[in-house]
Amino acid sequence: KRLVILVSGRGSNLQSILAACRSGQIPDTQVVAVVSNRPAVGALELAALAGIPALTVDHRDYGARVDFDTALQRQIDDYAPDVVALAGFMRQLTPAFVQRYEGRMLNVHPSLLPAFPGLRTHARALEQGVLWHGASVHFVTAALDAGPAIIQAAVAVLPEDDEQSLAARVLDAEHRIYPQALAWLLSGRVAYAAGRAQWRDPPE
Ligand code: GRF
Repeated sequence: KRLVILVSGRGSNLQSILAACRSGQIPDTQVVAVVSNRPAVGALELAALAGIPALTVDHRDYGARVDFDTALQRQIDDYAPDVVALAGFMRQLTPAFVQRYEGRMLNVHPSLLPAFPGLRTHARALEQGVLWHGASVHFVTAALDAGPAIIQAAVAVLPEDDEQSLAARVLDAEHRIYPQALAWLLSGRVAYAAGRAQWRDPPE
């Protein structure tokens, strides 16, 4: 199976996905390209070191959002992916782009959706005094951070937590659940249909 990963920064989720492909946790699958909307980020270095095509489609080169999305789509489709994984990708995609990859594009979000969509999730969790926070991997739909979740991990908020310590534990959870979500999607155990995640044989 062919995976294209979209990134914007450090690439820690890319790293865990690459490791899972190598170890067979995501069976028979290879990352065939990594595409960033920002140049010279850590994720591109990681890809280059792994001998994987590492491309930049810089959103600053495009006026309208739709023009960026069209250029991004062309680069992605050159690699004929089975699945596109947003891994620390910090751009909102147009409905037409999302539609094209409906059911085969995932995102990881650092909260227990539907709680805390959007940005600053850890700071907001601390401000609100929630006892449980976490990470979600979901199908990407036109509405931001609102697609059906495939897997979530709960992370306890500790009394001594600050934004950095909480973010670190949530990121660790992301690294554990993203490969699992991709393995389930690529094996056909879960699919997107009629706006929902449909399970072939639900995990125990
Ligand atoms: C992570 O916190 C992830 O939740 C968010 O982007 C951050 C960085 O991800 N989507 P990565 O280290 O670049 O994979």
